[in-house]
Amino acid sequence: MSSSAESTTPASTSETAVNFEQVTYFLVTGASRGIGAKMAIETARKFKPGSIVVLLARSASGLEQTRSDILSVNPHVTVVTSSVDLATASKELLNQILDKSIGKTSLDQFQLACVIHNVGTIGNVERKAVELDDHAEWQDYFGTNVFTVAVLNSCFLRKFSGTGEGCKKLVVNITSKACLAPFQSMTYYCAGKAAREMYFRVLAEEEAEAGVTVLNYSPGPVETEMTVDIQSRSNAPAIREYFKNLRDTTTILTTEQTTAKFLHILQNGLFKSGDHVDYYDH
Ligand SMILES: NC(=O)c1ccc[n+]([C@@H]2O[C@H](COP(=O)([O-])OP(=O)(O)OC[C@H]3O[C@@H](n4cnc5c(N)ncnc54)[C@H](OP(=O)(O)O)[C@@H]3O)[C@@H](O)[C@H]2O)c1
Repeated sequence: MSSSAESTTPASTSETAVNFEQVTYFLVTGASRGIGAKMAIETARKFKPGSIVVLLARSASGLEQTRSDILSVNPHVTVVTSSVDLATASKELLNQILDKSIGKTSLDQFQLACVIHNVGTIGNVERKAVELDDHAEWQDYFGTNVFTVAVLNSCFLRKFSGTGEGCKKLVVNITSKACLAPFQSMTYYCAGKAAREMYFRVLAEEEAEAGVTVLNYSPGPVETEMTVDIQSRSNAPAIREYFKNLRDTTTILTTEQTTAKFLHILQNGLFKSGDHVDYYDH
């Protein structure tokens, strides 16, 4: 087991450096807008012909926009979109989506299989922890943000388990500072991100020998619908003020900035598998 002291030290290791200029199978959740859409576009820009990009979210029109943006920067990839509610998607449905996207393509042709678990919701920020007594609301929140993430990840890695060393496997979890520190009004978000990141840390430990690389990337505070929503709905004045101040001073990050940092970290291998790496770490 790696110690926590080790894992907080930024590491430069060519072992985890990722070359995206390869024939890649690439799946991104929450790809209809925000950080997921930008990461999908900027990463897919680099792929070699023959690559397959799979975009998941509920909004068909948002997914279509991302698809069109990808094809305008890289017309040599196939982009498959699937409108799906990840709160309730079954293992069978997720496997069907994967199978359909692969079609008759042999998995052996892929040099890289990469999944970005970006989907995320802020949850009910109008109520305090002590008021969260609705079991169905907890189920729904954890369904989208933890349970389906783990199930999809399992489907994805099992699909590529037979591809051997010729195909590198990269798993990215989009995490948050909120998985490390408590923030008022953000009970669901903090609890969900903590559970989700621990799942990926265990995965990194267990799958190291199978050649699976795992990165938990924390994108910093970014200008998206999610942060607009927190700023307007949070019951905690300090949280509303924090985001208002970031916007007033234009210090809130753009999706371009955080995506550029994300690619820099991956391409240079500035992490050990399983690490939590924040935008501000580099
Ligand atoms: N923005 C920040 O400052 C910040 C900071 C730290 C971490 N993050 C993390 O970054 C990730 C992306 O956040 P964002 O700010 O880009 O949020 P966003 O703009 O709200 O985008 C969220 C994405 O998730 C999808 N999604 C939500 N519920 C879904 C469901 N039930 N089924 C399928 N897809 C669903 C949305 O698509 P549809 O609505 O079309 O389904 C959308 O594509 C999240 O994991 C978030 O926690 C964000």
